[in-house]
Order: sequence, then structure tokens, then C-alpha cells
Amino acid sequence: MAAGTHDYAQAAPPEGHYSAPAEDLNALDPKVWARTVRRDEDGVLTVGGLPVTRLAEEFGTPAFFLDETDFRARCRAWRDAFGAEADVFYAGKAFLSRAVVRWLHEEGLNLDVCSGGELATALDAGMPAARIAFHGNNKTTAEIRRAVEAGIGRIVLDSFEEIVRVAHVAGELGVRQPVQIRVTVGVEAHTHEFIATAHEDQKFGLALAGGQAAEAVRRALKLDGLELVGIHSHIGSQIFDMAGFEVSARRVVQLLAEVRDEHGVELPEIDLGGGLGIAYTSDDDPREPHEIAKALGEIVTRECESAGLATPRISVEPGRAIVGPTAFTLYEVGTVKPLEGLRTYVSVDGGMSDNIRTALYDAEYTVTLASRTSDAEPMLVRVVGKHCESGDIVVRDAFLPADLAPGDLLAVPATGAYCRSMASNYNHALRPPVVAVDEGAARVVVRRETEEDLLRLDVG
Ligand code: LLP
Repeated sequence: MAAGTHDYAQAAPPEGHYSAPAEDLNALDPKVWARTVRRDEDGVLTVGGLPVTRLAEEFGTPAFFLDETDFRARCRAWRDAFGAEADVFYAGKAFLSRAVVRWLHEEGLNLDVCSGGELATALDAGMPAARIAFHGNNKTTAEIRRAVEAGIGRIVLDSFEEIVRVAHVAGELGVRQPVQIRVTVGVEAHTHEFIATAHEDQKFGLALAGGQAAEAVRRALKLDGLELVGIHSHIGSQIFDMAGFEVSARRVVQLLAEVRDEHGVELPEIDLGGGLGIAYTSDDDPREPHEIAKALGEIVTRECESAGLATPRISVEPGRAIVGPTAFTLYEVGTVKPLEGLRTYVSVDGGMSDNIRTALYDAEYTVTLASRTSDAEPMLVRVVGKHCESGDIVVRDAFLPADLAPGDLLAVPATGAYCRSMASNYNHALRPPVVAVDEGAARVVVRRETEEDLLRLDVG
């Protein structure tokens, strides 16, 4: 928003994305909070019935609290929306831990991994290898070998080198590895440049335009070690508009028709990737899984009918849309610094080491005073971390009660995806724990890092 175009021009700093303060700063918009989050009669935020004041005492701050009830419900909603005719692969990069793998397994989802580390976590926690898909634009031969040996369900090929590499490993192990080819469909997704992946000038996939994708199909079909089962496309992340998926599905189906015409083979699967947006603030309006399933199903069926193809089995890979809304980060306020005529800087005990998304993508978050309610006037704040960097911002623009004080707890919702998984040790910060909460019980699923952990890696 340009300076001077909002209602708070007088009190406002030159730049800001904020809108008017919510009428009631204590209110919780269910769109951005995990399903079981409420306030109790004392005004304290609760999750799964547990007050954050107690959780902070037991587990410390900063910490991620993940609503397991909500996570499982979202898994089921995706599973039910797509039904037995399609597959839902949870994208583990959003957040993965052994507990999450078990929940996915129990709720009937599959899993997409993109590194040896994610694969190891999945296998260790008992996800059947056949239900795992392996992504990545530069998988090492060792990672490929591990996956093929385990009997992984599919490998998504991302380059000409990889076609040869996977075929070679499969040949050595005497198996025929199911693979998909990731194609770049040339769609401009309306999202931040760093999380858009289907335009041509980027590192992922093989372009449809110019014939790279068709050439990849030709090469893959010739190799005995590969069983080419389908085409994969992922257009980006935090997308609300289904138009991009429509174009992508149409182009993928076109390729299937070309493959049939050239090789006489009808590939049985297409994967349309993940990328469905969630509400980070009240301004975002995400779609429900059943609407998404319906829209995608109709697009693919229509395109296949017009190309004279049998409808392939569809799969999708939501990460953020499942885990994103299920967690919030709890911080303790350390300092409250009013800057005359600008805003108040509120420093918390975490920062860019537990949420890099604000600095990296200009992501917007909201924040609420969690340890109590307040009737004080709204004040314009920027919630910042404790790192040695002025870009260390958690919530760029928000309103909090003017009586905010050190020791208060703040909660930032919708931090379940890409916050803990992108956490760092910058400034030797200790990465926060993830605590799962379910029906009145809280348990650590990823423990807090300790100074011993840091020093153990530093071998002197
Ligand atoms: N499938 C593939 C092949 C992907 O590359 C991704 C995400 C997904 C599925 C899941 O996308 P989701 O449904 O979670 O949007 N760090 C960024 C997001 C990077 C996404 C990378 N790939 C962020 O914090 O926004």
C-alpha cells in the first residue's frame, strides 16, 4: 500500500502492508488458527484445551505447537475429497518428523520426499516405500540407490542425466523402477518469484516448449530399467487461482496425447503437484480440498475426453495446505521499543532462525497477544527477532494492545509449513521444538536443540 493511501497516514511509517486494526484485538479468526485454538475464560489462548501459559512453562519459548487433531482432520479431508481414484502425497518439505509420517500412514496418505534425509525419516518411521515419491532436481546416485533398493513407489525424473542415472542404478539392482517425468509447463503462477516453478527460466523439470519433455519421454521409454508411469507438473506455491492448474493440466494431457501418437503408449498417471494456498491473514481465502478435487478432476476428464485418452490416475502433493494452518509459534516478548512517529518494535525470543519466510518472501503473518486479553488501544507494531540483522522480522506490520510488556506471550498463526523445516542456527540459535497437542495432551515430537547439540557438530 502506498504511503498516505490508508487511514493511518498520520501515525504511519512510510511503508507498510497493514490494514486497519481488527475491531477486537483479542478475537481469533478461525481461518488463520488451527482448529482447536480458543481463548479460555481468563483470556489465555488454548490449543487442544491446554493454555499456552502452561505450555510455555513446560516446553519453553520459542516453540511450535502443532494441533494433531487438525492435522489428521486435514489429511482425511484431502483423502476423502480425492477418493480411491486418486492419490494424495503429502509434501514432506513443508514439515516432516517421524510422528508426522505415522499420522500420514494412519490417515491413508502417501508421502513426497525430496532428499536423502526426508527419505530416511519416512522409512525409519515405517512409511511403506511403495507409498513414497522421490523428487529433486539433483538427487545423488547414493540417494537414488537407497530409494530404489527400498522399493520406492516412484522417482520423479528432473533431467536427462537423471534418466540415465536411475536406469543405471535400477539395472545394477535388477529392478524396473517406476518413474514420472517432471515437465515445465510454462505457466506464470501468481505467487512470489522464489516459489513459482512452472515458468521456463528456472531449474526444475524439462520444458514442454522446445521439445525437451518429449525427448525425455523418448529416452525413458527406451531404457529397460525404467517403467515410465506418468508425467508430473508443479507450478508453484501459495496459489489461490485454479487457472494455472487448468493450463498445466491441459498441457500435460497434450503431452500424453503426443506420447500416444508417437509411441503408441498411454501413460497411466499424471501428478499436478502441490501449491494450494492457505490463509496467513484474514485477507486470504483458500479453497477447500473438495472444491480443488472437483475442479482438477473436471479439468483432466474434459481434456482427456477431447484428446481421446482414458482419464489417467491423478495425484496431488499438498504440503502447506495440510500442515500450514495446524501450527502456531509461541514467543515471549523481551523488549518493547516505541519509535516516535513510526511504530513500536517488539522483540521476541526467536526470529528469522525459526521463520525465514517474512525476510525471504515478504510473507505476511498476523500475531496475537496469547497470555491474556487486553482492552488497551491498538498500537502499530513490528514483531522482530533477536538476530543481528535488521531484516530479522517475524511480522512486518500488525496491531497489538498498547499495554504490551516484556514477559507477555505472543502467538503467530499458520507457521506449520516451511518454518521449522527452513529453520537455521544463524547466530548459533537453538532451533525450537515442535510440540504436538491432541485432546488435552501435549508431547514433544521434535525436541529443542541444545548447546550440546551445537557443540557436538563443532569438532574443534
Ligand atoms: N510438490 C513439489 C514437486 C514441490 O516442489 C512442492 C513445493 C510441493 C509439492 C508442495 O508445495 P506446497 O503445497 O507446500 O505449496 N519454502 C517456500 C515453499 C517452497 C515450495 C517448494 N516446493 C515457502 O515457504 O513458501
